[in-house]
Formats: sequence, C-alpha cells, structure tokens
Amino acid sequence: MSVQTQSCNNTARMSDQNLMEKIVSLAKRRGFVFPASEIYGGIAGFWDYGPYGVELVNNLKQLWWRKVVQERDNIFGVDGAIIQNPKLWEASGHVAGFTDPLVDCKNCGARHRADHLADTDSTDIKELTELLKDVVCPTCGKKTLMPPRTYNMMMKTWVGPVEDNSSIAYLRPETAGSIFTNFKNVVDSMHPKLPFGIAQVGKAFRNEIAPRDFIFRVREFEQMEMQYFISPDTQTEVYESWRHFAWDFMTKTVGVREENLQWHEHAENERAHYAAAAHDIYFKFPHGFKELWGTHNRTNFDLTSHAKASGQDLGYLDEETKERFIPYVIESSVGVSRMLLAVLTDAYREDTMGEEVRTYLALAPKIAPVKAMVSPLLKNKPELVAKAREVRAELQKVHPAIAWDDNGNIGKRYRRQDEIGTPFCITIDFDTLGETLDLKGTVTLRNRDTGTQERLSVAEVADRIRTAIE
Ligand code: GAP
Repeated sequence: MSVQTQSCNNTARMSDQNLMEKIVSLAKRRGFVFPASEIYGGIAGFWDYGPYGVELVNNLKQLWWRKVVQERDNIFGVDGAIIQNPKLWEASGHVAGFTDPLVDCKNCGARHRADHLADTDSTDIKELTELLKDVVCPTCGKKTLMPPRTYNMMMKTWVGPVEDNSSIAYLRPETAGSIFTNFKNVVDSMHPKLPFGIAQVGKAFRNEIAPRDFIFRVREFEQMEMQYFISPDTQTEVYESWRHFAWDFMTKTVGVREENLQWHEHAENERAHYAAAAHDIYFKFPHGFKELWGTHNRTNFDLTSHAKASGQDLGYLDEETKERFIPYVIESSVGVSRMLLAVLTDAYREDTMGEEVRTYLALAPKIAPVKAMVSPLLKNKPELVAKAREVRAELQKVHPAIAWDDNGNIGKRYRRQDEIGTPFCITIDFDTLGETLDLKGTVTLRNRDTGTQERLSVAEVADRIRTAIE
C-alpha cells in the first residue's frame, strides 16, 4: 500500500526564523532538548538533553569515537579532568589570549559581541573600531557604543576551602589542553610511532558574551577533539586529509546533505592564537551558514609552550633518524551540540500525507534514537499484544533501541515516531496471527520517509533494520 506524499521542504522552504522556532519546539515537545533549570526560568547558554536527545548525541559521539579511535591503530583515547592545573591555561595562551571582542553601550549598559554587531569574522580591535563607528546599539537604538575591547571567556572557580587568587582554577575552555599534557604519558605508556593521535570527547566551558541560536552558541558544551602528532614535513597532506575526514564524516557517516555544507578558510585576523592555518566546515543552520567543525594546524605551538612552562621534555625521538624534535599538531575539533543542531536542521521535514500536514525527522537510521517501533494493532487483544511482544524481542536481537507503542490509534503512533525520526514502524495485526492464511507470520513494515507499507516476514524486517543501521 502506498500513501501519497508531497514534500513542502524542497519546494517552498520555510522561512529560516520559522525553521529555528519549529526545531526548538519539536526538540522540546518530543524530548530532545530542554532549557536547563526551566522551572526556575532557565539560565542563558545552558541546555539539558531529554530522553531522545541523549540517545541521538550518544549515537553521534559513538560514531565519531569509532571512526577516529576504534577503527585506527594509531589514535588513542583519553578522558581528562575538566579542572587542570591553571598553569596549563597560562602556557596554552588562554589566560592571556582567549578573548572575544565586546562593546558596551554607555546609554543602556547592554553588552554585545563586537564582531557579531559589525557582521564580520574579524576579531581585530582596530578593524572593529572602524566598522562600528557609526553603528547604533541594537538594544536602545542610540549611537552610544563604547570602543570595542577584549574579554576573557574562561570560566573560573576556586579549588579548596580558600577563595583567593592562589586557589583560582578554570573550567577547561577546550578539551585539547589535557591531550597535550598527556602527550608524554601516552608516548611512555603506548610507545606509538609518529604519526599518531590522541582523542577526547568531553565538556568544555566558555563564558560567551552572547549565547544564542538555541544550542549553537552555549556556555557549557561537549567537544570531540583529536590532535594528530606529525613530523613537520607532512603537515600539508595530513591537514588536507583531516579536513576531508570531517566532510566525509558529516555526509557519509552522519548522512547530512552536501548542499548544507561549505568550506570557510580562516583569514589571518580570524585565526586562534595557536593556529597557522584553519579551515572550518560551515553548515547551513536556520540562522545562516556558520561554523560547525574546525581543522587547525597548531604547528608545535602547544608542545613547545608546555615543555617550556613545565620544564619537561616533550620531544619525540625518531628511532630511525635518531633526530629528536617537537612534533607538529593537526587538530580536528567539533562541538556535539552544534552537530546535533546541524543534524536536526538537515533532517527536519514537513509534507502532506493523506489530508494532513505531517512533520518528520529524516534521520539516517544509524543515528536515529529509536531504530523501529513495534505495535499491536489493538492493545485490548491479548493475542495481538503477545505476538507483538515476541516480534519486538526478536528485533531487539538486531538492536536494543526498538520501541513499544500501543497508545492511541495507529495513525497517532506513526506521527509520534515520525517526529522523533524512527525509520520503521512495525504493526502486528490479525493477518499476522493467520486470519488470512497466506499472510500468517507476516507483519506490516511502514517506511518513515515515504509512508509506504509492505508485508514482510519478521526475518525480512530484521534484515531491513540490520542493513539500514550498518
Ligand atoms: N581546540 C580548538 C577549539 O576549541 P574552536 O573553534 O574554539 O576550537 C571548536 O571550537 C568547535 O567547538 C567549534 O567548531 C564548535 O563546533 C564548538 N564550539 C565552540 N564554541 C562553542 C560554543 N560556545 N557553543 C557550542 N559549540 C561551540
């Protein structure tokens, strides 16, 4: 049986503002993302993942870990503490240089990101001063903006019972820090040969001046970062291969459409203090093409700085040439919540099915939080329920994320699963039990994207799910 579908998404794309509102609303309604401490009015820049959000981000993180660490012999995982010795952040340049440009309004006291207000990627204060000289404050509308200045984004805390300057510590602003400080430990414990990498997935904190655009710019987030240690003469080819890895991961592994991605090469006035080259993948978020994933050539900046500040030898001895040198580093770095927003934006669809407008998430089955839903046609028929339970248990041998839903009519169950991006719905009816003899043992398999339904054996359904999530 086939159901007529007509896509609104491709023909008349909804306005971008509208799209962001729809995604935020779906994310809350269907248990993906909730405002942190919402019952107290929330807190700017902090969000919680709900039941489906946590499954989806876990799938993204697991795929990244598999592709970066598990499928390779020369990349090692670590999981460092969020709070490290503050000397780490002095040596890395973050205490002095991890800044964003801001402007204050003399009239109303509002504070804005200077580069956002000037609509530029540059963070150069001279350039921003020039660009903002005739700009009015977006909050009060007056031409009373003060000269732009820099502002350190690291979040501070105190370690121990005394709150003074000697006990200040920082919540890490990037996970890369403890990768560099563990360089020597990994060399001494794993004895890798160059090139090799160290990877980490974990929380990072930035006191963003203007957290905004839902989970795009937040103050607490997770990063998936990998530092690849190399000999300097291979920097160009290794850099190229990691930036293409990022592109392939998004398109082939996560399954977002290529048309939603583009490259952005950093100009000199845009690069972080440690980077000699940087390419971002920009994604077409509802608020425009913006940074999703960075590849950076950090040269030997970090290991050299940490060697100098700690007094430790962070060199690498090439056994063949007997040469000792500080390796260069190519970094691959992406934020988990940004990847989640990219995935939700890419997957969000509306179409007309039958007479009704429906919303669905066209998530790739391997990242979908629920792989399939099993349902008895009627919940008050014990024989249907028992058979459906049996089918679900069978399918859970393929993947545990097989949901059960017997609430409301079958159409409502399908709509719920469409909105969370479940690729398949399986219904057990009287034909399954043998009412129509030649259909005995078969079930209905409904496809999320097309709404088409087929009758298949349970073994065939299991195969479909297995193939889809591979
Ligand atoms: N270790 C390099 C580094 O941290 P970055 O460009 O500052 O580089 C890397 O951050 C990635 O982390 C970004 O491409 C983005 O995906 C994510 N990210 C950075 N700041 C973020 C924020 N405030 N909210 C959400 N994600 C953020």
